[in-house]
Order: sequence, then C-alpha cells, then structure tokens
Amino acid sequence: MYKIVKAECLADKIYLMDVEAPRVARACQPGEFVIVKIDEVGERIPLTICDFDRAKGLVTIVFQTVGASTLRMAELKAGDYFQDFVGPLGQPSEFVKEDIEEVKKRKYLFVAGGVGSAPVYPQVKWMREHGIDVDVIEGSKTKDLLILEDELRAAAGNLYVTTDDGSYERKGMVTEVIKDLVENQGRKYDVCVAIGPMIMMKFVCKLTKELGIPTIVSLNPIMVDGTGMCGACRVTVGGEVKFACVDGPEFDGHLVDFDQAMKRQQMYKTEEGRAALKLQE
Ligand code: FES
Repeated sequence: MYKIVKAECLADKIYLMDVEAPRVARACQPGEFVIVKIDEVGERIPLTICDFDRAKGLVTIVFQTVGASTLRMAELKAGDYFQDFVGPLGQPSEFVKEDIEEVKKRKYLFVAGGVGSAPVYPQVKWMREHGIDVDVIEGSKTKDLLILEDELRAAAGNLYVTTDDGSYERKGMVTEVIKDLVENQGRKYDVCVAIGPMIMMKFVCKLTKELGIPTIVSLNPIMVDGTGMCGACRVTVGGEVKFACVDGPEFDGHLVDFDQAMKRQQMYKTEEGRAALKLQE
C-alpha cells in the first residue's frame, strides 16, 4: 500500500498528490511515468511523474479528472492509500541519458500546455540542477487553470506565461510566443520539448518544423492502461508503429502522425470506439 501524504486541488479538476513510494522515488527520472490503482477494482491509471524527493521517498503526481477512476482518485485525502503505485515505467527523457557536456551545449525551449506543465516541471528542474538555463513557455486556457507557475519560474531561466483568453500575462497560444521569441527577439533554440494537449503538440511541431527546431513531444495523453496491452497508445512515428507506453512516452514530434493518434484518442473515449478498434487489430 502506498500512502498519500499530501493531496491538493491545484485548479478546477486538477489535483496534486505526494505519495510515499521510496523505491519509485529512488529510481525515477524525468520523462518516466507510474501506474496507479486505487483498489482491487480500480482501473490502472498511467500518470507522468511531476516531481520526486529521493531522500523522503516521495513521488508527486498531478492528474486531471476525466472519468470515473480519476474522479474517485480526486476524493482521496492525505492519509489514504493507493493499492498499487508501479514504476518508474517508460523511457526517461533523452537528455538524461546523454553526455551532460553535450546537453550543456544546446539551448532548450520547453513548452508546457495545461496539465502538461506537470511532466515538463521535472525536466526543467533537472536542467536547473545541472546548471543549464532553459526558456519555458507555459500556456493555459485561463488564469485559473494555470498550475505550477511558481515552481517553473524558480527552475527556468525565463518563463513566459500565456493564456488563451488573456486573463493573465500575455494573451494567445503558445505558438505565438514561440514565433515571437524566435522571429522578433532573435532567440535560437537547438531543441524544443513540448508537452500538453495533442492539438497543442501538433501545432507546436508544425511551427518548429518550419523554424527548423528539432522537437520532442510526450504522448502521455493518449495512454489508457500503460501496459502495452490495450492498444490505445498505438501511434505511427516516422512510418513505424510505436506504443507510447512502451517505446515512449517521448518521441520526435516531427515524425508523429498526430491526426491518426488524435482519432484513436477520440475513439478510446467511448466503449463502442474501443470495441471497434479492437476488431481492427
Ligand atoms: Fe495501452 Fe499503451 S496505453 S497499450
């Protein structure tokens, strides 16, 4: 059993929990995910790791309520337990595995959209811990849905916040900020890491392709059970079939077939869709 030591509502339908899971905390790296299960009958829910404290044995997860299981999860309080908290799973972010001197030579731009700020945060924090200054763009629909702003501000070299409705900081999409930084302010980036809603990642990739900036995306949003069994996260990357939960969740965004992945994501939202997809497999 895994004890929840902190449970907090960050914004409408978005929750943060610190969970006692020393083995996961010891081993996890930015980019990886865990699978949580409330009890015997609960669904398996894959969630990207938002933060970890190896000394205290804590792992931080952030989730948005989207269905029955996450609604049940949101009701849990500090002192409650998860039956399962399995991980770390998936592949760590590429830069974690690389020679640090090579990573230091590059200028990174992180783009976080909505709940995507949660998986972006440990990556930006990792960069800070290794003395690397990165630029971060954080976008949300509205001010009330913006999460982890203070944490990102503390870890980033520069943080640019934008809201779709202009209720806070600048108004507009994250793509407009990228354009502004590159075209008007003359910033040069060697790598962009974009994590957020599929539609956001699709348009960020379209733009960064035009701008010639290699881009990594995390396909965490399309995972359903995180086991390689359900087929929900099947995606074509550079003409090859991949599974986000096994081969990813991070991929070269310029090679991802977003339209196909989004269609599957829609189908998996309904029971009938899931059945139809299974028949095709
Ligand atoms: Fe089910 Fe990857 S999430 S196969």
